[in-house]
Amino acid sequence: MQGGAWSEVAPGVWSGSFGAPEEFTALAAAGGAPDREAMARLPAVDAPPFAAGEVSGERRAQRFVVRLPLRGTEPVFGLGLQFFRVNQRGRTRFLRVNSDPRQDTGETHAPVPFYVGGAGYGVLFDTARIVTVHVASVTRREEPVPVRDRTTDAGWTATPRSAWVEAVVAAAGLRVLVFGGPTPRDAVRRYVLFCGGGCLPPRWGLGFWHRTPTRYTDAEVEAEALEYRRRGYPLDVVGLEPGWHSTAYPCSFEWSPERFPDPPAFLGRMASAGLRLNLWEHAWVSPSAPIHGALAPLSGSHTVWGGLAPDLTLPEARAVFEAQHERAHVRPGVSGYKLDECDGSELTGSSWMFPAHAEFPSGRDGEQMRQVYGLLLQRMTAGLFRAQGRRTYGLVRASGAGAASLPYALYTDLYDHREYVRALCNAGFSGLLFAAEVRAARSPEEWVRRVQVACLSPIAMLDAWSSGTKPWSFPEVEGPVRAAIELRARLVPYLYSAFARYRFDGTPPFRPMALEPGAGEAALADDQYMLGDDILVAPLFTGQAERGVALPEGDWHEFDTGARISGGTRLTVAGGLERIPLFVRTGAVVPLGPVLPHAPRAGDRLELEVRHYGGVPGAFRLYDDDGETLAFENGSRRWLRLAVDVGPDGARRGRVEVEGTAEGPHAAGPGLRYDPIRWVWMGEGAE
Ligand code: GAL
Repeated sequence: MQGGAWSEVAPGVWSGSFGAPEEFTALAAAGGAPDREAMARLPAVDAPPFAAGEVSGERRAQRFVVRLPLRGTEPVFGLGLQFFRVNQRGRTRFLRVNSDPRQDTGETHAPVPFYVGGAGYGVLFDTARIVTVHVASVTRREEPVPVRDRTTDAGWTATPRSAWVEAVVAAAGLRVLVFGGPTPRDAVRRYVLFCGGGCLPPRWGLGFWHRTPTRYTDAEVEAEALEYRRRGYPLDVVGLEPGWHSTAYPCSFEWSPERFPDPPAFLGRMASAGLRLNLWEHAWVSPSAPIHGALAPLSGSHTVWGGLAPDLTLPEARAVFEAQHERAHVRPGVSGYKLDECDGSELTGSSWMFPAHAEFPSGRDGEQMRQVYGLLLQRMTAGLFRAQGRRTYGLVRASGAGAASLPYALYTDLYDHREYVRALCNAGFSGLLFAAEVRAARSPEEWVRRVQVACLSPIAMLDAWSSGTKPWSFPEVEGPVRAAIELRARLVPYLYSAFARYRFDGTPPFRPMALEPGAGEAALADDQYMLGDDILVAPLFTGQAERGVALPEGDWHEFDTGARISGGTRLTVAGGLERIPLFVRTGAVVPLGPVLPHAPRAGDRLELEVRHYGGVPGAFRLYDDDGETLAFENGSRRWLRLAVDVGPDGARRGRVEVEGTAEGPHAAGPGLRYDPIRWVWMGEGAE
């Protein structure tokens, strides 16, 4: 046994070094600083979840192994953006970054070596290396397991069940961080706050996004965006795909003079239509890129598609990238990036990235760089906007530990709808966001079902880069598609507040059911999730006329009708194409904004509908700030308390209070003006 004494590094978080851990880790690459103040507000935990002697580390067979016990039969959640299961117990997870996670091996776009024990604690293996986590899936000789005869015993299983986790790295040691609960949700909150708190996107980031086909010119992009306006669909962000570069795969990072001859003028026209522009890129630098020469000595030993792989751990390399991006994109008004292909695959035999044996001028090797490249890109590009005092929100295809505070949502080329919803659930365990984007569909029904989920995900996006689809591409279902996009627009005040909770108290805005108190049978659900604190989303999938929903304990209501349903049970819901089964906790207060062409700006007046569900008092903390700058970090923010009292006769009354230090009537403050506020009573007594 080597090492293992815990030292408390932040409230309720302990670190232990086993063997000789490497200094360069995913947390170091992500660069977040713990929000200690917010962590101090979490439930206090006096002791680490494991006594020093319970966890051991040792060198074995050229590797380093750390071993931790599991508690009883607790499920094990997390380990990144997993597409195939929610409970990882009993599985070996090979946590390598991979763009092609078609098999249940653990490899994925964001293989985060952080797990949450169902008993209420978290464990992070802080390394930049591939970690293999055997979650109760290997047994040692000293741990007797029942031996069964496969020929005659139907109870025989292929995976032996142990009571231990063994984590393995190809290094001389491993740093382990353990996070106290007492609940799984608190453990996740502690982890998120340890990473710096969840990201708070700009308000416009929560609107609708559309990505245009890759070869479009500026005029075509503009015409497509204005078609949204003409048809009365909300649209906030337009995404350009590879064709905006003068050359791509590898990239030049400069605008194509044929397709985008005058970027500032184009960006100006988009801005005056209330539209932001997001640019696709990957990091591989084309020989034709003006920054190629400067980056040549600062790049790795291997190229990708003939492009340089810059060593983004070097400040000099980042400076070259940053100066070019600032000049060509950020200053003229681009709002963010889609960071593609930072997640190479070796499974398919194709070379989407440099190999693990690549060498980099900083001394890091290809394995480390592959594991953290997505983190490095997110951090660098987010920094470009931070330097201008602006917020950004974008997409990334690879991520890792420490990513919670980076303003990006993951996406994938996989397109299985159920896997999308499962990934949305699982992302919440690891402080990740997953954009369940919609691209195309084989039928009008599938189109509706996919748009519905996309609209209830961290980025509501139609990615038409290759399909050319529009929301109205299936005229026979335009009604339900429009309704889903409009619902998204109406949810922005609720969602923005949920993201503020993510930022300030670590609670993920999109959450798996296991993080809900009283989840019961729902805890292992992989096809339903929580949106903010009070809305449960149970989407219908193509081919389904009905589905089962597991409701946590307590009373619930149907979102649209207010009809009351007792929780702690499993029910069957049915519905036509227009139906998205949404359930609201009793007592919940849900603010809904108007459907606007694009997100409102600071100072705008907004009509707010505030729904209260059921006959018990409740409140909602409505967050607001200017919606786009970083001034909120210095206190320029406001929480309104929308409270509902219920009198002895059952009559309900709504109140609006300003929380904290903000002064004056609720109409004042850094954000929007909510006027009028219309209270709507849902559920019993409302008739
Ligand atoms: C893929 C990416 C797609 C699209 C495409 C453009 O790697 O996942 O969303 O951007 O590249 O070439």
